[in-house]
Amino acid sequence: MIEPIRVTSDAVEILDQRQLPERRTYLSCTGPDDIIHAIQTLAVRGAPAIGVAGVYGLWLASRKLTPRDKFWDELAAEKERIKSARPTAVNLAWAIDRVWAQAQGIRQADVARFLKKAAETLAEEERQRNVRIAANGAPLLLPQSRVLTHCNTGSLATVGVGTALGVIREGFGQGRIGSVWVDETRPLLQGSRLTAWELMQDRIPATLITDNMAASLMAQKRVDAVIVGADRICANGDTANKIGTYGLAVLAYYHGIPFYVAAPLSTVDLDLAHGSAIPIEERGADEVRSFRGVPVAPSGVYVYNPAFDVTPGHLITAIITDRGVARRPYELSLAALMENEPNTNREGERHA
Ligand code: MRU
Repeated sequence: MIEPIRVTSDAVEILDQRQLPERRTYLSCTGPDDIIHAIQTLAVRGAPAIGVAGVYGLWLASRKLTPRDKFWDELAAEKERIKSARPTAVNLAWAIDRVWAQAQGIRQADVARFLKKAAETLAEEERQRNVRIAANGAPLLLPQSRVLTHCNTGSLATVGVGTALGVIREGFGQGRIGSVWVDETRPLLQGSRLTAWELMQDRIPATLITDNMAASLMAQKRVDAVIVGADRICANGDTANKIGTYGLAVLAYYHGIPFYVAAPLSTVDLDLAHGSAIPIEERGADEVRSFRGVPVAPSGVYVYNPAFDVTPGHLITAIITDRGVARRPYELSLAALMENEPNTNREGERHA
């Protein structure tokens, strides 16, 4: 399996996803600034993967501090910087806050060792969550389904088999996937560069389309289900995911096609009642005006570049999680799944 994050005794190596699929190069991160930069520039991306990278960033920050009076204050400041590297995916803040709460009471001299272990444990947990999501989601697909997916939700985004892509992988093994329509995912092409690449490596039949082709494919009855990942899921099921997801949900609803969201419970944020409260990251104009330095628009043209949109819960057929499948009304079904979940995104833990 592709490793988006590797660790040595004193550095974190990030597979530079901006260079894929042409080049497989790892960036060596030795301090929190390197990790923040890798997250913000999308060298590492995808909700669960940035959570894991963030905790490794906290480990690197702790190694740069020597035990003394201000140790915890200085580490707390680094924690806040890492947490705010990207605002939409709740996994980043959730992972950092959870580990931070666990680290309280640890001797300063032991903090670095603790944080490294915590990051490794989180990565392993996310891998296991992926396996359970895949097992829960695959049975929802009919044999030989032609599914459409958006953005990248595979190993690159999750450090495991993936969320939506994990369901597709498991479904393929069970004979439930006939083929996959891969949305290109403008403007940064996570679909064409990353998802198509992952599917081809697994020899799962995949066909790349541009984002504006989904409607006519659905009208021609060539899509049996849509399955996507999530960056944050609110208590009522409203779901933030890569820009373009909402449009697919509207299209699927109109054409009577099931629309599934697959995500670990670490992506569910019960503190937010509905999607209007989700912070949506806006990114730079040059991502739309050009690609890898080649202009695709007039220099200086105004650009609007939100990285995510919010799909209302009522357009989502089911939310596939590691603890089971939630259906409407999500206020009840998601709360029930989160019950007894030790790692919930709830106020007490978030701000501990
Ligand atoms: O901007 P990105 O590439 O980090 O956006 C990623 C997505 O929107 C994914 O669909 C989401 O994080 C789920 S990854 C399992």
